[in-house]
Amino acid sequence: MTTIVSGSASQTLAAALARELEEPLAPVKYDRFPDGELLAGVPDFDDDRAIVVASTVSSDAHLELLQLQDAVREAGAEEVVTVLPYMGYGRQDAAFEAGHPVSARAVARAVSTSTDRVLTVNPHEKAVCEFFEPTATPVDAAGRLADPLPADLEDPVFLSPDAGAIELAETVRDAYGDGETDYFEKTRHSGTEVEITPSDVDVAGRDVVVTDDIIATGSTMSEAVGVLRDRGVGRVFVTCVHPLLARNAVTKLSRAGVEAIYGTDTIERGASAVSVAPALAAEL
Ligand code: R5P
Repeated sequence: MTTIVSGSASQTLAAALARELEEPLAPVKYDRFPDGELLAGVPDFDDDRAIVVASTVSSDAHLELLQLQDAVREAGAEEVVTVLPYMGYGRQDAAFEAGHPVSARAVARAVSTSTDRVLTVNPHEKAVCEFFEPTATPVDAAGRLADPLPADLEDPVFLSPDAGAIELAETVRDAYGDGETDYFEKTRHSGTEVEITPSDVDVAGRDVVVTDDIIATGSTMSEAVGVLRDRGVGRVFVTCVHPLLARNAVTKLSRAGVEAIYGTDTIERGASAVSVAPALAAEL
């Protein structure tokens, strides 16, 4: 029998996945010692197969995932499948300066020690899957990002804020069924400062959907929206797979004039309008 085990930051998605798979959810306890150390466990777990679902949205979430993997093994699980809806540290996939770690590799190695299989949704670069042992399976959930968009988009343009995300924009356009695609050029100056160079696409009076894999501080998206506003755009919707929406990202985007922010439940936020549970269930 299989049981779904949820990390504390992925409880809504784990429950949705349990419904999709028609499998039970394990009772899970998340505790913390007075010195700050975590203790996540699975009282009464006695199944052969565990699917641990945990987005590693923080360092604590990473640690909690390692504890849950270990706890189900300790309780007798013969097979452990790890679902990383959002892989934290995934963007640190190279040593960008001398002396820096390849953080994505370091966390992938740790996650690999107590699992038989790993699935992760739309990793920032698919190559990070190779840091896991065995290689992780990437799950593409981007097509569902078209679901919450209004049916009456005016002569729509589906844009990505940089060339790397154009495939996502194309996927959302294809799922929507109508519209042009294009991408901007992005230069990142720091963690919160980016410069967006517009393309030649004519957006005047047209509705635009800007799609990226992650919205973190919202700097990339708000710069892109600013460029669009200067060009007389109609409505602007922003979509992403992983709505990290750190710090003041929602306010920044709202002030930039976006109509709506849509993301998936790989990270559970107010913007998580789309569930990746069906895409995960199809792979499991
Ligand atoms: C980076 O290349 C990613 O695709 C996103 O564009 C980036 O993570 C967004 O970050 P922020 O919202 O902080 O600009």
